[in-house]
Amino acid sequence: MNLITIDGPAGSGKGTIAKQLSQELKLNYLDSGAIYRILGFHLKENNIPIENDALVKEDIQKAKIQFIEDIIFLNDRDVTDAIRTESIAKIASLIAANKSVRESILDLQRSFLKKPGLVAEGRDMGTVVFPEAKYKFFLTATVEERASRRYKQLISKGFDVSIADLVVEIQERDFRDTNRTISPLVPAANAVIIDTTELSPSQVIEFILGDI
Ligand code: DC
Repeated sequence: MNLITIDGPAGSGKGTIAKQLSQELKLNYLDSGAIYRILGFHLKENNIPIENDALVKEDIQKAKIQFIEDIIFLNDRDVTDAIRTESIAKIASLIAANKSVRESILDLQRSFLKKPGLVAEGRDMGTVVFPEAKYKFFLTATVEERASRRYKQLISKGFDVSIADLVVEIQERDFRDTNRTISPLVPAANAVIIDTTELSPSQVIEFILGDI
């Protein structure tokens, strides 16, 4: 089955690229970061302290997660936009270091691999969730460029953010995601690394299409 993984840090363009690629190739699409965001959102709403492992484990079992077309549902409620804030991203990144959280969503992530294939994006798609993937890409870009992309995305969704705050938040998140012991953000040994700082989304897609 066709399986393409695209990993990389926040704002590296993996979301845009993976989604467009899945549409062009008519493959399924997995936004694994959205799952961590949904769980973060759920824990926040239920006032669960993220350092309480037993409570976290119990509470995340109560989260019914559904991706229907472009809409993301948590317990039948549309949370598509609500999970996109940087405060939810921070909780997502904090709980992403928790072993039971990561293990609890492995099957859900792997269930996206259906015919005719999948484009999966995140931090550990090529290393842990789909190590068997034949085509693995790792996108990077300077932190300034990534913050500026995130700024445009968030402003277009009506969120009030500043580039300076985003630079700091993204750096903190990168540090946490890269330095955790379980499934850290790291390119798979056989991943092709693409620096997207100076590239448009269509140039990155062209490069990937030329490589697979
Ligand atoms: O891709 P994103 O910015 O929506 O991801 C939010 C957080 O979720 C990210 O900072 C770390 C975590 N995450 C992860 O640990 N593993 C993944 N495969 C995807 C996201």
